[in-house]
Amino acid sequence: TPVLFSGMQPSGDSLHLGNYLGALVNWVALQERYDAYYCVVDLHAITVAQDPAALRESARRTAAQYIAAGIDPERSTLFVQSHVPAHAELAWVLSTITGFGEASRMTQFKDKSAKQGTDATTVGLFTYPVLMAADILLYDTALVPVGDDQRQHLELTRDLAGRFNSRFGETFRVPEAYIPEVTARIYDLQDPTSKMSKSAASDAGLVNLLDEPKRTAKKIRSAVTDTEREIRFDRAAKPGISNLLDIHSAVSGKSIADLEAEYAGRGYGDLKVELAELVVERVEPIRARTLELMADPAELDRLLAVGADKADAVARETLAKVYDAVGFIRRR
Ligand code: TYM
Repeated sequence: TPVLFSGMQPSGDSLHLGNYLGALVNWVALQERYDAYYCVVDLHAITVAQDPAALRESARRTAAQYIAAGIDPERSTLFVQSHVPAHAELAWVLSTITGFGEASRMTQFKDKSAKQGTDATTVGLFTYPVLMAADILLYDTALVPVGDDQRQHLELTRDLAGRFNSRFGETFRVPEAYIPEVTARIYDLQDPTSKMSKSAASDAGLVNLLDEPKRTAKKIRSAVTDTEREIRFDRAAKPGISNLLDIHSAVSGKSIADLEAEYAGRGYGDLKVELAELVVERVEPIRARTLELMADPAELDRLLAVGADKADAVARETLAKVYDAVGFIRRR
């Protein structure tokens, strides 16, 4: 069975609809056909300012949301990145074959560091994509389901795998990205030309999986649209309506063309009210199940320990091959 690997950062109070529709929905579907590893990437989460108590809470809550959304911990390997030391160890080795210029071209780094300023930007944020490459390459991964914003990091991962193989001998499988068509980029409801993101200035444009249903419905009903009346998909001219149609299509399973026909001659209010209902219907069971899982942290920790043991065994073996390949002598 081919291997699939993906992860999310434990940051903020909840995963949002972009994380869910862009990635998590595909994780759930693909776990049937792949030997899947789903990681809570806490090493990545400390590359920006963070609060230790909040991080602890968020790591468990992120794992709980994976399970609540449909990841089966019996079938898939669910674990926390910091529990498997090989991630940080391989990242070091990969950092020595990553060009400084190459890493400097990563647009996520450029955007985030530009926002924070040079003094607040850490070296860890700079090497973030190298750690992500290590995550993926440790497991002989064939497929990586992510949203569109991770495309460039996946390209770097593929480049590093190829470069290592040609320099030190065939060691890594070169993985493929799996990026959905309609939901690769879900936009902020209040600012529909920016992607929905945990680091948004305001929470009003974010649909959080753990928001109260009333709040979710209100956020969708208050989504920014435009001054026309026509419900049609046009990303450039009508970013707000196009985003709502994308979300509708993802949740209802109807095509954009069918939705345009269904809403022909109707007002924006109808679209928003119906979409709010659909989204609440989909998200509310995830919220309820997450809260149940969070009520038993010992059981969550047990599940995560099982996953860590399994991941650790695989990762150690890959790391040993890498250490041999670069010329480290073995410890007796
Ligand atoms: P993170 O936590 O920022 O995002 C988690 C996943 O959600 C997707 N995503 C979106 N998809 C559609 N629309 C949006 N508005 C939106 N916002 C986020 C992201 O593309 C991602 O798939 N670097 C990764 C975490 C990571 C990882 C890995 C992923 C670390 N190591 C190895 C895959 C494989 C990230 O940005 O997570």
